[in-house]
Amino acid sequence: MSYQTLPKVELHLHLEGAAPPTFIAGLAQEKNIDISGIFDEKGGYAYLDFDHFLKVYEAACTTLQTPDDFRRLTLAVLEESASNGVVYSEAFLSPDFCGGGDLDAWRDYLAAIADAAVEAERTMGITLRGIVTGIRHFGPEKCNVAARCAAETMGDFITGYGMAGNEMVGRPGDYAYSFDMAREAGLRLTCHAGEWGGAAMVSETIRDLRVERIGHGIGGVSDPALVEEIAEKGIVLEVCPGSNVVLNAVEGWGSHPIARLRDAGVPVTVSTDDPPFFHTTMTQEYEMLDQTFGWGENDFAALNAAALKAAFCDEDTRANVAKRLELTND
Ligand code: ADE
Ligand code: ZN
Repeated sequence: MSYQTLPKVELHLHLEGAAPPTFIAGLAQEKNIDISGIFDEKGGYAYLDFDHFLKVYEAACTTLQTPDDFRRLTLAVLEESASNGVVYSEAFLSPDFCGGGDLDAWRDYLAAIADAAVEAERTMGITLRGIVTGIRHFGPEKCNVAARCAAETMGDFITGYGMAGNEMVGRPGDYAYSFDMAREAGLRLTCHAGEWGGAAMVSETIRDLRVERIGHGIGGVSDPALVEEIAEKGIVLEVCPGSNVVLNAVEGWGSHPIARLRDAGVPVTVSTDDPPFFHTTMTQEYEMLDQTFGWGENDFAALNAAALKAAFCDEDTRANVAKRLELTND
């Protein structure tokens, strides 16, 4: 069956990584930027492995140069999400790609993104919240700058702080200052870990960064005591199976640990990460979970309930989205 119209909550989506390749190619043409090397012959993104993916991603971002580019990007991304049934989404937003960490510039970019979110809510029925994101391989100093941007602009729209990028650079504790700053400002916290790193990386992330959600987290599955700890503490995993399969973080759908984690009592949620890079959509993620693990409507209702419970939003918004999901709050 098609899950396209089933209402969904998505917690893990990189705004720039969700840019349709045609959108980025159009901006490149408008601005006379030659990034032809990042596309394949069909116009999709082309990369060899995770490190190369990060380079291609950053090359695509060189076309995003003004607040209006981000306004248009946000509308394009939310249109695609809404057409896949997403009614609530959280997007990772990077000050590094929005004015290079300059706070005044960041405010301008953010205003444009938030304007687009208001328009999308009115016209497409999708609600967006922003998670300011430091990029780990840019180093702790740049993450501190990102966290400061987050702390200075937190509010109705910016509700969280997180860290993405190459998790094999440094250890989680090297980034503790940025997470401390964000926590003290009142932001909710998530961090990529256990996409490439093993159980120790996930465990240190929980201990040193004191996050309530983990991006991916699948590397934790190899340590039963850690799985038990995650389940007990109710730390939510933002699992992105299609991303993991395409990037070869797992061997294939059949060996993806999402079902084992869920069955061990871990609160799992499902997201697309960077959908055009991984040739996926939320609809396709659901279809693959159905085909691979036999998950059906009750499983997806539970996934969405877990995601909404873990969403970085205020209670009025949560209640409003619950109605759109036709869930009752318990
Ligand atoms: N930034 C965008 N996508 C990412 C991923 N899958 N892992 C880490 N950083 C990212
Ligand atoms: Zn991610």
